[in-house]
Amino acid sequence: MIDKATVQKITDAADIVEVVSDYVHLIKRGRNYVGLCPFHNEKTPSFSVNSVRNFCYCFSCKKGGSPVNFIMEKEGLSYHDALLQLASKYNIKVEEKELSDDERRQLNEREGLLVANEWAMTQMEKALSDTEEGRSIGLQYLYQRGVTDEAIKKFRLGYNLDSGHALADAANLAGMDRKSLVDVGVLGESQKTHGSYYDRFRGRVIFPVLNPSGKVVALGGRDLKGGMAKYINSPESAIYKKSNELYGIYQAKSEIAKQDNCFLVEGYMDVIGMWQSGMENVVASSGTALTDGQIAMIHRFTNNITLIYDGDAAGIKASLRGIDMLLAHKMNVKVLLLPDGHDPDSFAREHTPEDFRKYVNDHATDIIRFKAQVLLKDVGNDPQKRVAAINSVVSSLAHIPDKVKRNVYIQECSRILGVSEEVIEGAVESSRSDIIEQQRRQRQANDIDRIDQNENNPQPDISKNIRPANSDRMVEMYPYYPMERTVIFQCVRYGMLDFCEVEFEDGSTGMINVAEYIAEDLQADNIWFSFPAFAKTFNRILDLKEDFLKEYDAFEENLFKERKEMLQKGYDEIATKNMNMVEIRRAERILEENVEEEIARKRYDFARYYAEQKLSSHQDDDVRRTVMDAINDEQPLSNIYMRNNPVSERKMELDRMRVLVPRGVLEWKNEMLNQMIRAKMKQLDSILGRSNPEEEQKILMETQALMEKRGQLGKVMGDRTIGKKIK
Ligand code: GTP
Ligand code: MN
Repeated sequence: MIDKATVQKITDAADIVEVVSDYVHLIKRGRNYVGLCPFHNEKTPSFSVNSVRNFCYCFSCKKGGSPVNFIMEKEGLSYHDALLQLASKYNIKVEEKELSDDERRQLNEREGLLVANEWAMTQMEKALSDTEEGRSIGLQYLYQRGVTDEAIKKFRLGYNLDSGHALADAANLAGMDRKSLVDVGVLGESQKTHGSYYDRFRGRVIFPVLNPSGKVVALGGRDLKGGMAKYINSPESAIYKKSNELYGIYQAKSEIAKQDNCFLVEGYMDVIGMWQSGMENVVASSGTALTDGQIAMIHRFTNNITLIYDGDAAGIKASLRGIDMLLAHKMNVKVLLLPDGHDPDSFAREHTPEDFRKYVNDHATDIIRFKAQVLLKDVGNDPQKRVAAINSVVSSLAHIPDKVKRNVYIQECSRILGVSEEVIEGAVESSRSDIIEQQRRQRQANDIDRIDQNENNPQPDISKNIRPANSDRMVEMYPYYPMERTVIFQCVRYGMLDFCEVEFEDGSTGMINVAEYIAEDLQADNIWFSFPAFAKTFNRILDLKEDFLKEYDAFEENLFKERKEMLQKGYDEIATKNMNMVEIRRAERILEENVEEEIARKRYDFARYYAEQKLSSHQDDDVRRTVMDAINDEQPLSNIYMRNNPVSERKMELDRMRVLVPRGVLEWKNEMLNQMIRAKMKQLDSILGRSNPEEEQKILMETQALMEKRGQLGKVMGDRTIGKKIK
């Protein structure tokens, strides 16, 4: 783990313009830079880099962030590894924090296993090209299957000599730790003679599985002699969880982002075949059903996935497996069936790349439409089968989080299945509430896990890639989500600015900042953020105050010096001009005003951008994401106004803040009261006419009290709402 000070050093040093320039050709435009977005394909630049605030943002695909975010996204790295990459770019020495014995053991173990795999893979690559046996058997086999030298290099294919102990001997000679080689499954240890090792992959062509940062986490070895197991693979280990890896992701990731689509195939050879046909955005699940972790990995690069299967019965069945999971991840899923008996590899060999592409374009079908059609074909006249088919389609529909999208499909499926829209909709909605409840429980469990691991564990959990967007689902799960979102966004933006003077319990008075004001205001009514990522971010912002005050002192001291220098420079300049006394006085007065203005601007910016600077590279995924979302959600002040009038820009923003901050909290409280009143009304409805006048009276009075409270709140809100009075 990297210690806090070093993280700070790295994030301070990392300049967004420099970092992005390694990937994108940037052109200066005004205060910012623009370029072609590296995350999606485009012809006109919508990728903007803000050098002052040190972040980047694509107005089209909405990706971007601080330098760390950019590297994470672009390279598909973890937070930790992205920091390391930046550290090496800026020659910053990384002192990994003192680890506990347990952590160190884990880290050493992982390192050891990666070293073992890398070493073995290098040996096998050499064996393929540099030995007589490798060339005549391994290479010969690959050539015969049409694999090119370019692909062999790109996918780091190799060969394990057939003697049975070639690698074991080489390991001995090289002084490699054979225990690690056994743990990653490259060597086996003989049962009979302890301490004697053999090659597990002997006589096989080797396909390494690389993780997104290009580390060899596993090997797959293909049999060449018609033996029992066509493939043997590395066992699971501290560096290899089969369900979290995708074959080909390292080679495909940037093309997946660029094409904004990912092809998913079954086997190693299929990936290579497609790649050779020029479709480089391809990965394989290696013969198993897709998992959440794999989907989340793809989701980091695109929302669109095209499943490719053989058109036989088994292929069709396989294509329908796991689609609900994909839909729940908000993926747009298409399926492409190849002519019966073909896999992508054989199809690629028999067609030109152009024909293959055309086939893909012509035959990729939306998965739900596909499912409805396939199931219907099977039904015949069997009413039971028919019900089962409808239920199965309903289940898939219910997994689509987006309501608009869901409704479009409901219409279409109603047509295909010949069932009325109302019937399908009713079934979908009821199935949907079950799913939501399930997800809520799952999320709660996850959040508890996450809070437990919390900040000691900087590894991002890619299986939880649920972006808190303004979706139906968030509101269903967290009824005050939109109000909380507004308030936390204001906190990110204005949190460190002074808000008002208050009297403390001991009678003294002092300034509280916007974040503290919000905290007070919420606590007064016993409210807090319910959405976990917001709650966490809010606490981090409140925590910032201490550091802020410390840094602010140093900042003021500097500012004092700067002011003196600016004035001195200005006076000197005026002195060289040929002016009379009156003119000099006037020039000096203007100079002083300008300097004061500049100082005020710097002071304002320091507080205004403090929270976002500190937190946009924070190690916690939730905090970082919330802060980036807040920044990206900012409504820019009118551009023309800003350019010509920096004084008013600041003043306008401050005015706006003073109105928006209290209003955000009020609207939140108001919505809570609304919902409480609605609940009371419902309660009243249910007991009305059941001759229980006492209970009726009680609820009526409670409702009345809530309504009064809402009335008072409304009055305050009206007072504070400027220009929102309608008629
Ligand atoms: P070729 O037969 O050489 O074209 O290989 P392929 O990659 O096309 O394999 P296939 O389509 O038969 O299977 C798809 C994937 O399932 C493979 O890439 C492997 O990951 C996995 N697989 C296939 N056979 C075996 C096996 O016998 N054992 C294991 N563990 N995995 C297998
Ligand atoms: Mn095959």
